Amino acid sequence: MKLTKLVIATGNLKKLKEFERLLAPLGIVVLPQSAFDVPEAPEPHCTFLENALAKARNAARHTGLPALADDSGICVDALNGAPGVNSAYYAGAQKSDADNNAKLIADLQGVAHRRAHYTAVLALVMHENDPEPIIAEGRWWGEMIDTPRGAGGFGYDPYFLDIALNQTAAEMPIDIKGAHSHRGRALAALLLRLQE
Ligand code: IMP
Repeated sequence: MKLTKLVIATGNLKKLKEFERLLAPLGIVVLPQSAFDVPEAPEPHCTFLENALAKARNAARHTGLPALADDSGICVDALNGAPGVNSAYYAGAQKSDADNNAKLIADLQGVAHRRAHYTAVLALVMHENDPEPIIAEGRWWGEMIDTPRGAGGFGYDPYFLDIALNQTAAEMPIDIKGAHSHRGRALAALLLRLQE
């Protein structure tokens, strides 16, 4: 089945922009779930995979269209993988990037080992009860720094340093971030699956 139109199951406009840019060359029109007043899906699960699937099924149910969801977050080695699936709410239900970053950097005070990775799991369902969702994942390794750098991106980006590029995710133009990021890598893997 040729995929031409997709609902993206996110309320995050920055994520939406990243998906739009990555899917446009394939002729896939991307529609935000906000255009259909899709209510946000609960994310009660302890794995990115289960949360991504719940979001994709929720968007497909409310729109009748194929839906793509990502569940993503940052996992810090020294914090046993936290914030992990709780990345959006690390400092509380208000979902504030500034509060989340302040908490994470406070938690890492005096910690020398700064290794961390972003992870993204994508789930694509053709319809609400699709028994064969297409799943793909991507990881992006780096280190947490104490002083923010850059004004792009979102979330933890100003504190996440790609060691090889010596840039934080917030310092990179969106296309460079897309080429290296967890979401970009997961999407590349998803597209390979789609071509099969
Ligand atoms: P989700 O929308 O429930 O998947 O939550 C993802 C959360 O993980 C975001 O709110 C951010 O805090 C964090 N996150 C995921 N991807 C990125 C990224 O590319 N840059 C910065 N933060 C990210």
